[in-house]
Amino acid sequence: MLQYAHIYACVLVLLLGNAVAEYKYETKLFNVPLDHFGYQRNETFNIKYLVNEDHWDRGDGPIFFYTGNEGQIELFAKHTGFMWDIAEEFRAKIVFAEHRYYGASMPFGNKSLDNDHIGYLTAAQALADYAELVNFLQDNSLKPRYPVIAFGGSYGGMLAAYFRMKYPHLVAGAIAASAPVHMFPGMLPCNVYHRIVTSSFVVANITCKENIRQSWSVIRNFVTTKNNTDWLRTQWKLCDPIKNATDVQTLIDFLQSMYETLAMVNYPFATDFLLPLPAYPVRTVCQYLNQKLTGQKLLVAIGNVLEMFTNYTGKSPCVDYKKGNDYGNLDASGWDYQACTEMVMPMCTTGESDMFEPSPWNITKVSEDCHKKYNVYPRPDAARLEYGGDRLFAASNIVFSNGLLDPWAGGGLLSSISDTVKAVVMIDTAHHLDLMPENPNDPESVKIARREHKRNIRQWIREFQQQRENEKKL
Ligand SMILES: *[C@@H]1O[C@H](CO)[C@@H](O)[C@H](O)[C@H]1NC(C)=O
Ligand SMILES: *[C@@H]1O[C@H](CO)[C@@H](O)[C@H](O)[C@H]1NC(C)=O
Ligand SMILES: *[C@@H]1O[C@H](CO)[C@@H](O)[C@H](O)[C@H]1NC(C)=O
Ligand SMILES: *[C@@H]1O[C@H](CO)[C@@H](O)[C@H](O)[C@H]1NC(C)=O
Ligand SMILES: *[C@@H]1O[C@H](CO)[C@@H](O)[C@H](O)[C@H]1NC(C)=O
Ligand SMILES: *[C@@H]1O[C@H](CO)[C@@H](O)[C@H](O)[C@H]1NC(C)=O
Ligand SMILES: *[C@@H]1O[C@H](CO)[C@@H](O)[C@H](O)[C@H]1NC(C)=O
Repeated sequence: MLQYAHIYACVLVLLLGNAVAEYKYETKLFNVPLDHFGYQRNETFNIKYLVNEDHWDRGDGPIFFYTGNEGQIELFAKHTGFMWDIAEEFRAKIVFAEHRYYGASMPFGNKSLDNDHIGYLTAAQALADYAELVNFLQDNSLKPRYPVIAFGGSYGGMLAAYFRMKYPHLVAGAIAASAPVHMFPGMLPCNVYHRIVTSSFVVANITCKENIRQSWSVIRNFVTTKNNTDWLRTQWKLCDPIKNATDVQTLIDFLQSMYETLAMVNYPFATDFLLPLPAYPVRTVCQYLNQKLTGQKLLVAIGNVLEMFTNYTGKSPCVDYKKGNDYGNLDASGWDYQACTEMVMPMCTTGESDMFEPSPWNITKVSEDCHKKYNVYPRPDAARLEYGGDRLFAASNIVFSNGLLDPWAGGGLLSSISDTVKAVVMIDTAHHLDLMPENPNDPESVKIARREHKRNIRQWIREFQQQRENEKKL
């Protein structure tokens, strides 16, 4: 299970894929200190950010600021259509800021991810970069004139919320979409994520889930002879043969990760983001698994699912199960390090509340693996202590939105904490659909959520402008 951190890392970022939209922006660099929290390392480096001012009211129009998460910033710009869709109406400037240690925002060039250099990769350092960038965008003014609205999805949603919480003097409000801010040790049962993955398959067809649950023992019992592994390799078009127990486990991890990913990106339209998939991919793959199947028939059906998942465009010669779910554009290794330090998100399977083989969460094992890889030990309580866990009573002007078909919703804030820290729940959507561009297939729930977002943003901008008016009168 060594891959676990890695697999979850990948699925967390597997956010946004869908419609191909061409957005225009300028690409810029901004110089930031390597270390915001100490004075002995005086190096600086550049983070990348993208800007569009087409609709901006330079007098006092808002700045829509995307707090970049674990990947190249262009990816998030391309898939966060909501910001682009509403920029004209709000006469907003759009900014997408890249997270340090991802994309081109590397403090030590291609050595940044080495153990000797990776230490300045933390959420707090990234937020401090964003704070300096916002200050610069306000012309270093003592009385900033542009209301800043933070946006983010997934880990980016956590950052958007934390940005408002830590820097309320710089950020007027935050839309935090599918942000698993509760997914820290002790806050939730560790089986929540996989329970939701499973229910997504139950919603498609309960027999589909039962077939998947049966498949693990069928696979393990089948691959005990060379003849059978050869058959399976041909049937499933695997790039590599299955030679030993490690390979079997790797294949099973790949399948599990595939089902998780399908649940997360179960969007109502075809996506071409990290991997091209049809609309409602869970329902689509379940068409192969809706009848009770056993033995080799079940294996043939799962081969069809694998083909849909890996080869929707018909361009993949074979299934590279050893590669893991490591899709382009995203930097899995950076996130893996974050998961090994402050972003400790316990996950387990029970085989009862979910359709997977039981696998406990074992922090000792996780710590040992992290130490081997990065020479660091995780601090399981660090994020809760720094960012407040579910005790956000003193926070304000944040909307946490979640879709209940999104496995990450289990770690989301699902009921409002106050008049200004609000939950928006969409019963029938996957991972932050509300941030994506408008689509004819959008369910009513996401349309309502977007209207609610716009209402809140308007309110935050009004409050900001009211404060400026009040100051002028003094
Ligand atoms: C950074 O610190 C070094 C000594 O550690 C010093 O030589 C150098 O001048 C400093 N650079 C800046 C820009 O402050
Ligand atoms: C790393 O960057 C240096 C300097 O830019 C370059 O000379 C070197 O070839 C790069 N190494 C790799 C493995 O890309
Ligand atoms: C090998 O597998 C094939 C197809 O599953 C089967 O027809 C054949 O009898 C098997 N041969 C042996 C020696 O088990
Ligand atoms: C299992 O086989 C793979 C090649 O398929 C090899 O790379 C790996 O070292 C083997 N593992 C063990 C534990 O024998
Ligand atoms: C599952 O799919 C099968 C085959 O299409 C169908 O007969 C059955 O009614 C479905 N079950 C549910 C609960 O939709
Ligand atoms: C992908 O589709 C192409 C075209 O149908 C086919 O030739 C190829 O074998 C498929 N690859 C996999 C892994 O299914
Ligand atoms: C957790 O992992 C450690 C280290 O690998 C191992 O010694 C221990 O037995 C595991 N605990 C459980 C409950 O599996």
